[in-house]
Amino acid sequence: MSLLADLPRLIEESRAAFEEAGVPELTVHEKNGSSGSMLALCDSISFSKFLLSKGLAGKISTIYMDPPFLSGSDYSARLSGPGGKSISHHAYSDRWTNDEEGYIRMLCSALWGAKSLVSPQGSVFLHLDWHFVHYMKICMDEIFGRENFINEIIWQYKSGGSSKKHFARKHDTILMYGSSKDHYFDIPKEKSYNRGMKPYHFKGVDEYEDENGWYTLVNMKDVWAIDMVGRTSSERTGYATQKPEALLDRIIRCSSAEGDICADLFCGSGTLPVCAAKSGRRFFACDTGKLAISITKKRLYDEGAKFIYYAGEDYSGGGKIDAEVTTSEDGRDIKITGYTPDLTYIDLNEKDEALFRDMTPEDGLALIESVSIDPGYDGSVQEPAIYRVKTKGAIDLEASVGSEGKISIVVSDIFGLESQLIIS
Ligand SMILES: C[S@@+](CC[C@H](N)C(=O)[O-])C[C@H]1O[C@@H](n2cnc3c(N)ncnc32)[C@H](O)[C@@H]1O
Repeated sequence: MSLLADLPRLIEESRAAFEEAGVPELTVHEKNGSSGSMLALCDSISFSKFLLSKGLAGKISTIYMDPPFLSGSDYSARLSGPGGKSISHHAYSDRWTNDEEGYIRMLCSALWGAKSLVSPQGSVFLHLDWHFVHYMKICMDEIFGRENFINEIIWQYKSGGSSKKHFARKHDTILMYGSSKDHYFDIPKEKSYNRGMKPYHFKGVDEYEDENGWYTLVNMKDVWAIDMVGRTSSERTGYATQKPEALLDRIIRCSSAEGDICADLFCGSGTLPVCAAKSGRRFFACDTGKLAISITKKRLYDEGAKFIYYAGEDYSGGGKIDAEVTTSEDGRDIKITGYTPDLTYIDLNEKDEALFRDMTPEDGLALIESVSIDPGYDGSVQEPAIYRVKTKGAIDLEASVGSEGKISIVVSDIFGLESQLIIS
């Protein structure tokens, strides 16, 4: 049987699988103020079920999904290891059980979730590439209705690599569907240069000039030339397949208003939640990868975003934190003096593993990417009064807090593993 002939069955079975899926047990791990935004360490289907159980059906204006593309590859992140040496670490896998069928089941179930969550005027964006976008457009026609198709956006970029056997593949496709024909849309404008770059002087048409010549502003077209996150970009996190903020900012602004909710069901390094926070929207985002979530959290804290972080597990799987606390009349001074990662959870190649062999807890301090300190820990939810993120290779590991309360220190390392130390 061809895959095309199987699609109706797979779409229906995915609907049933989504409906039958249970609500996951996610608990609040960390609370950074209250803005109504959420980040979760879990898969997209569980997260959708969780949001539905919180009464959020039909409440989300923009749902963006940038899932693995069925490329059959594994993706890594470049991390700064012991002694500042660059190491490669597994970020996520794009290999599927039963290949195409397993992939369709996962993605269609996630799309059924998106359909229940999107608001009556909202829209859903599915970001894919040539591998499978043609099949998923058929699935989206079925799930959202052909009449609700809005755009096939081409994101065109420059990047290295080409072949002598085919044209260089330098675009991704983003399928946009509305919840209904009545979808919210704030069309952005773009420059359209005049022929010969000279002014036309047409009556009633505003013209502008920049270093290239004269132009007018027209409604934006569906081909977007936006640079990828380059090696030297200040946005770069090192997470494979990180998308540029300019792309997500455009998606968010055209499909939602300030104060609305935007969601990303495969958030990776967190570009959508970061852009949502920057543009005054609330966000709901999830990913299955600890590294992805840890990078997202760091970016959000950097942005001063407020959110609640949910996860299904406790801190087991992290390393060991050593800290000294000295008490004075003014309160307590905390100093993190050592960190030992638990490498049993890490899959490193032999060369990279050797870098960790003779590492002391003091050397391990260089592996700390962020530190959160809650000086009034209630025994369950981390509410950091102090949050430090490594910037330009440095992080401040000393802090002063008041004299009352249980102290909880949570450290996140280069692998995204979190460890907790509680000092009574
Ligand atoms: C293409 S990346 C997303 C990149 C992201 N847009 C960014 O700007 O960094 C795809 C992400 O999907 C995550 N993922 C894979 N399967 C998932 C699932 N079932 N639910 C949620 N996330 C998943 C991977 O861990 C990976 O981070």
